Amino acid sequence: MSWVTKTLSSTLGRKLIMALTGLFLILFLTGHVSGNLLLFKNDGGQAFNIYAKFMTTNPAVKLLSYLTYISVIGHVIYSILLSQLNKTARPVGYAETKSSKNSSSASRNMGVLGTIILVFLIIHMQSFWYQMHWGDLPIVSYDGEEYKDLFSIVSFAFQSELMVIGYVIAMGFLGFHLSHGFASAFQTLGLNHKKYSPAIEGLGKIYSILVPILFASMPVYIYFTSLS
Ligand code: HEM
Repeated sequence: MSWVTKTLSSTLGRKLIMALTGLFLILFLTGHVSGNLLLFKNDGGQAFNIYAKFMTTNPAVKLLSYLTYISVIGHVIYSILLSQLNKTARPVGYAETKSSKNSSSASRNMGVLGTIILVFLIIHMQSFWYQMHWGDLPIVSYDGEEYKDLFSIVSFAFQSELMVIGYVIAMGFLGFHLSHGFASAFQTLGLNHKKYSPAIEGLGKIYSILVPILFASMPVYIYFTSLS
């Protein structure tokens, strides 16, 4: 077995893959939430549609997209492999567990939270990403150039109470997942230092509250503006 295969099949190797893919997805979410803020611009979706075209056609961004897909798939597969390895190492479990004292509920439920986010992601990709790439979207024209009207699909989706409630709940789960995942990734990579750990933990807390709130505010904003 080469050292690469050996590392990737060890607990530490699998944790490293989880940490690296997780950190990449944190970067992706930062970019995604920032770009989607254009949904708040009161211009009938022009800035958002121009941004969506750039994000789906620019070669450098396309490369980042492929890295995102690989990271999502890798993060999911390695979470399953890691939990299998943990079960083989400790098939019966500890006789006495004081888990609620020793760890947060988010850290004990990362698998459940991750599964809920995966279900959200499948619905999300079908609703928007699939439509942008292969759907029959209306075409709009700005300054003589044609664009797919992704804004109309997004604003139509968020006129449904069920979608809005589903998104808000899913963002709550995302927040809990990130609240443990953020600091945990740095710890796995050995970047926990007495001096920097409190700052990383603080940043993780702010991130895991701010990003889900910003995401959740988009469907809520679109829903209420569509009523008026
Ligand atoms: C209200 C919040 C959100 C809105 C309005 C939104 C909107 C969109 C839209 C319109 C697309 C298709 C455009 C494209 O393909 O680039 C997209 C793609 C995507 N979204 Fe979201 N999104 C939201 C939240 C999220 C969250 C929380 C996640 C992850 C947990 C996520 C993950 C993705 C991924 C992985 C893609 C594919 C990106 C790519 O092809 O590079 N989105 N989103």
